Amino acid sequence: MTEQPRLCVIPGDGIGQEVIPVAVNVLRAALPDLVVVEAEAGWRTFQRTGTALPPATLEAARDCRAVLFGAVASPLHPVEGYRSPIVALRRALDVFANLRPVRGWRVPGAHPTLDLLVVRENTEGLYVGRERRDGDTAISEQIVTRQGSERVARVAYRLAAESGRRLTVVHKANILRVGDGLWRETCLAVSQEFPQVETDEGLVDSVAYHLVQDPGHYQLLLCPNLYGDILSDLAAALGGGLGMTPSLSLGERYAIAEPVHGAAPDIAGRGVANPLAAILSGALLARHWWARPDVAHAVEKAVEAALSSGAYTPDIAAPGQPTVGTEEIGQAVLTRLTE
Ligand code: NAI
Ligand code: MG
Repeated sequence: MTEQPRLCVIPGDGIGQEVIPVAVNVLRAALPDLVVVEAEAGWRTFQRTGTALPPATLEAARDCRAVLFGAVASPLHPVEGYRSPIVALRRALDVFANLRPVRGWRVPGAHPTLDLLVVRENTEGLYVGRERRDGDTAISEQIVTRQGSERVARVAYRLAAESGRRLTVVHKANILRVGDGLWRETCLAVSQEFPQVETDEGLVDSVAYHLVQDPGHYQLLLCPNLYGDILSDLAAALGGGLGMTPSLSLGERYAIAEPVHGAAPDIAGRGVANPLAAILSGALLARHWWARPDVAHAVEKAVEAALSSGAYTPDIAAPGQPTVGTEEIGQAVLTRLTE
């Protein structure tokens, strides 16, 4: 994209308020012509205004076409009129492909050989909300369409072609012959358009097993909604945890970057949240939305260097290791970025 990059920033609730400003500072330093528009959403916004996703926020998101979202805290009990604003935003912007790259960062618990991109279909499958109860029987429908499968498969194949990754189509078509069958058939048809990409396929249970056995084995997993949800959390655990895991949801016209973690009420307000997932989410926008892989690379290198210098928030520190806070690790990244 050659026009000036614009970013709608929605910190949200809890640690979103702490990690997003740090990520925005890093992104601004890496991409000086970035235009930032602040907007609000979340539980606090709902309590104050009666809506969790104000129309002005949606308008700002559409206007910028790129969003950096922190996290929202959802009430434990259903609250009249409250709907999760991030779910509503993803739907409104029709971001159908969720990208979750995980790497073996140099932090305790991360697997050094891990370098995996999970691409998850984000609008269909079992998550369409078509559920009903008939006495003691419950029915949850899975919806798979050729068009819905095709569009996410094309995104995944383009990414595989760009990055030289082998692509594995994940399914359970041996049991779910019709639904997962159409998913598999469509993904394999798209593979014909990309002869340069090596393709294989895997049953979701066996993929989970191999991922734990040998985290370096897979390079890109193309998953339907449910399997992508589960496998990407598994992959996040292998890659150093929630504080290190960024994500990007892509559609035809919009993109939403967000750390995978939530509002973390247990640590919110203490200044110890790890902002690296938010920072790395900003890097994903640079790479995949603003076509600035150089900026993404610079940010990721700075994160690597900050970790090598021994800056660790409590969630990624080894037992007994000294730790720093949100601001300090952000500063460590900024310093590496600009030196
Ligand atoms: P969570 O991701 O907020 O926290 C899980 C655990 O990981 C907590 O112990 C937390 O302290 C830790 N953690 C998460 N991110 C961290 C970070 N950046 N640095 C250090 N430690 C971190 O998930 P949880 O506890 O299930 O949900 C809390 C709230 O967040 C709930 O209201 C939930 O609905 C909401 N949530 C929102 C999401 C979103 O906005 N996309 C996603 C997941 C949960
Ligand atoms: Mg999840």
